[in-house]
Amino acid sequence: MTTLSIYHRPQISQPMQQLTTFDDIASLLASAGIQLEHWQTNAPTADANSEAILHQHRAEIERLKQQEGYTSADVISLTPEHAERKTLREKFLQEHTHSEDEVRFFVRGSGTFFVPMGDQVFQLTCEAGDLLRVPANTPHWFDCGEYPDFVAIRIFTNPEGWVGHFTGRETFH
Ligand SMILES: [Fe+2]
Repeated sequence: MTTLSIYHRPQISQPMQQLTTFDDIASLLASAGIQLEHWQTNAPTADANSEAILHQHRAEIERLKQQEGYTSADVISLTPEHAERKTLREKFLQEHTHSEDEVRFFVRGSGTFFVPMGDQVFQLTCEAGDLLRVPANTPHWFDCGEYPDFVAIRIFTNPEGWVGHFTGRETFH
């Protein structure tokens, strides 16, 4: 289930607000400039390759490219057996920005994004079918969990320029 918890920073022990209704979450995020959509998706078969996954969602990807000027898309997946899972998780857990939007569509599995907004932090757990667009230069971090297990489409303006700029601020998860 897609969920949004809002924490007061730095007092993070109890959320100030928790939302579990998709439309409520999407409209609250929209008021903060973050786009959340839900797309139809079917869980990919075990042998589905990136091309097949991109092909299944080509219409929605094309729409976003037209709307926002994105130029390319690829597929990222992480499994609980991934040799680098701990290192990758630690990297994603550091607060960072990008000079372009972070656009993710969850094809399978789930992941949790954290986006600070003033003295609050939005904790958004996305599941299969969720498309999230975090605007360029918005600080955020991501938790894929101790045993990550997801497949996601990434959509870019310029994949070469898509690097994280780390803020060094303290995070939680
Ligand atoms: Fe990011």
